[in-house]
Amino acid sequence: MGTLDGRVVIVTGAGRGVGRGHALFLASQGAKVVVNDLGGNPDGTGVDASPAQQVADEIVAAGGVAVANHDSVSSWDGAEGLVRQAVEAFGDLHAVVNNAGILRDRMLVNMSEDEWDAVVDVHLKGTFCVTRFAASYWRDQAKGGAAIDRAVVNTASTSGLFGSAGQTNYGSAKSAIATFSIIASRELSRYGVRVNCIAPTARTRLTEHIAMMAPKDDGFDPMDPANISPFIGYLATESCRITGQVFHVVGGRVNLFKPWEVVDSISKNGRWTIEELAEEADRFADVDFGDLGRSDMF
Ligand SMILES: NC(=O)c1ccc[n+]([C@@H]2O[C@H](COP(=O)([O-])OP(=O)(O)OC[C@H]3O[C@@H](n4cnc5c(N)ncnc54)[C@H](O)[C@@H]3O)[C@@H](O)[C@H]2O)c1
Repeated sequence: MGTLDGRVVIVTGAGRGVGRGHALFLASQGAKVVVNDLGGNPDGTGVDASPAQQVADEIVAAGGVAVANHDSVSSWDGAEGLVRQAVEAFGDLHAVVNNAGILRDRMLVNMSEDEWDAVVDVHLKGTFCVTRFAASYWRDQAKGGAAIDRAVVNTASTSGLFGSAGQTNYGSAKSAIATFSIIASRELSRYGVRVNCIAPTARTRLTEHIAMMAPKDDGFDPMDPANISPFIGYLATESCRITGQVFHVVGGRVNLFKPWEVVDSISKNGRWTIEELAEEADRFADVDFGDLGRSDMF
């Protein structure tokens, strides 16, 4: 018996990389999986139905249950159809893992409108579209009197949460997804829906050029994308209580982020003048946040 027996789960961008690992793992735990992937290039150009179909076939060949879906997550009609396909194929929907993503890195001064729009579209709008139609299905279920436990797991990035140069498009979309997750968790708890967010670190076609991603010759390979998936599976289980949290997951490690917090302030009983602020607020320039705990994350 698997920990996700009978749970119906949509995984977006599941034809490759981290999402493929999620789909295979969730299916191995008994989930019925809708394997979504547009199948394009790392920069989002092109379409190819085969990656999603191959993963669905792999799951079925291993004795699991899966269907493929090739729609873009950022298509309004496509996202609605994706949720409908899960319900029509398997009779219900219990969890959505929003994972699809692309990269078009460029320094801000050179970034084109298209590079900005394409990245924000897939990540932020895609996460919104699929969550929106799943949430509306779950709201109808809850209003119909069903006691439900549903889950959304979104995908951010440390590039966004810490702010990497050359990725204003990607990083802004990714930190927005973290905030989206917190807000959605507050809105959807009344319907029995938990929403969390993870930032993965793993070796995929998007990251394999980075030296730290190199595979280990022997023993545990911390950058294997399959390492991320058990935590996704846990967040999707019925008994999990976690909601509204943002995590970083790498190898055998799960790091919980603390939300934005106030660390220093100035105040007066009235409105500031610029001269007063120049006197009092100048010290904010010297606040040093160090490496924000990044060195302790791996
Ligand atoms: N690999 C890492 O270390 C890392 C780090 C931080 C964040 N992430 C995030 O993890 C997620 C998975 O990335 P990955 O590294 O596995 O990359 P990947 O390129 O291997 O997989 C992403 C998949 O998403 C699919 N996709 C792209 N646009 C789509 C769309 N509009 N609709 C449906 N599918 C679409 C692609 O076809 C691809 O198969 C992304 O959101 C990425 O930003 C990855």
